[in-house]
Amino acid sequence: MIRDAELDLLLNDLLELYGYDFAEYARASLKRRINRLVSIDRFPSFAEFRYRLRNDASYFPRFVEEVTVNVTEMFRDPAFFKVLRNEVLKVLATYPLIRIWHAGCATGEEVYSMAILLKEANLLHKSLLYATDLNPDALERARKGIYPLANMKLHSENYLNSGGTEDFSRYYTARYDWATFDKELSSKMIFATHNLVSDRSFNEFQLILCRNVMIYFDKPLQDRVLQLFEQSLEPLGFLCLGSKENLRFSSVAQHFTVWGKEKIWRKTGS
Ligand SMILES: C[S@@+](CC[C@H](N)C(=O)[O-])C[C@H]1O[C@@H](n2cnc3c(N)ncnc32)[C@H](O)[C@@H]1O
Repeated sequence: MIRDAELDLLLNDLLELYGYDFAEYARASLKRRINRLVSIDRFPSFAEFRYRLRNDASYFPRFVEEVTVNVTEMFRDPAFFKVLRNEVLKVLATYPLIRIWHAGCATGEEVYSMAILLKEANLLHKSLLYATDLNPDALERARKGIYPLANMKLHSENYLNSGGTEDFSRYYTARYDWATFDKELSSKMIFATHNLVSDRSFNEFQLILCRNVMIYFDKPLQDRVLQLFEQSLEPLGFLCLGSKENLRFSSVAQHFTVWGKEKIWRKTGS
């Protein structure tokens, strides 16, 4: 087990050498994931692991990949997507241009789900979907929009449970073991690396989704990121968090009202 003092050394190295600051990630889960990596990559000691990270820049992406959880799925929490489809998009439809930010989009399944909703609501042509993550490898996969065919059964069930009525397979072309999503869906997506710990706001949005990302952060960092979202939302914009996340106890709570039961909040008008 990595000790607290060792973790501190490692986190200092990562900040100094690679500019990534993990100091305010929830410590217990960070430790667990680092221990797991040390074990699966068969480092005989913490010192050797640290040496590798310090001296082999090509190992750092593997560290990011293993230590930041990027598990995701299309139409994850279908009831949430149902509210987006039936209620939130109806409000957004009144805007001439809809700007959406998916913060911590991982490999992009959430962004493609949103593009499908927008297409079905005939809103895709006037939407821009900004998809960001700190992990450039995950973003590269998101950009390609090619996913394992084996996952399509789950994605399709989620889609139907979210109120979708089409044949889900119309959105992709199956080839060997892979499903390639239609280019029309990605035509309105803009992918960029963005670190919620250190990077600032880059636009004003009507809708921000940051789901299952802040669960890995300590409370003070969660609070700062929520402030960033509050500043990045237009008045009356929507903020969507993951099923285990909340803004009730944060300093921005007073600027939001709850919108239904699916972890959606609306920024107040003034
Ligand atoms: C579990 S995934 C969530 C994916 C998707 N939002 C969902 O709910 O299915 C968490 C993602 O957050 C990203 N992440 C972690 N720390 C981040 C940070 N500081 N800035 C931006 N993204 C971060 C990870 O790289 C990972 O892709």
